[in-house]
Amino acid sequence: MSNEATKPIKILFVCLGNICRSPAAEGVMRKQAQEKGLDDQIEIDSAGLGNWHVGDLPDRRMRTAAATRGYNLTHHARQITKKDFDRFDLIIGMDEENVKALKRLAPSAEAQKKVVRMTAYSTIRPRPATVPDPYYGTTRDFDYALDLLEDACQGLIDHLF
Ligand code: 4NP
Repeated sequence: MSNEATKPIKILFVCLGNICRSPAAEGVMRKQAQEKGLDDQIEIDSAGLGNWHVGDLPDRRMRTAAATRGYNLTHHARQITKKDFDRFDLIIGMDEENVKALKRLAPSAEAQKKVVRMTAYSTIRPRPATVPDPYYGTTRDFDYALDLLEDACQGLIDHLF
């Protein structure tokens, strides 16, 4: 196998604040990859479009909901930069607004092609349009986001490997 074939795929999950959905996606993907023995084939990170929460741990409500399912979310929020479009192979937005903002930010047409919507990998039918922002929601909204993320991460792994 050539080096190219064994190079890990680099995936960046992106949402608005980088404290609810995208750090949860990162944690879910990391655990699923570990469980499938794929950890050295995938590099995972997350970032936010906004800078309001830079340096913060994920929202306590998301950390609690995730911990119930065995995910330990330790990411510290950061804002996406143009360099991320070079560093990552796939840049996955949680909703249509994220995808639009990412495509506007992309420094080239080639970079734009790396931008995908998380629910493009959903196996649930009918396919959910977005991973809705739970920030102003209830416990149920955080759980629903995790349901969607677990399913879409599984779909993403199946798509990639
Ligand atoms: P996230 O949720 O994009 O899933 O991290 C949000 C977190 C914070 C804010 C909005 C969405 N905010 O406006 O501060």
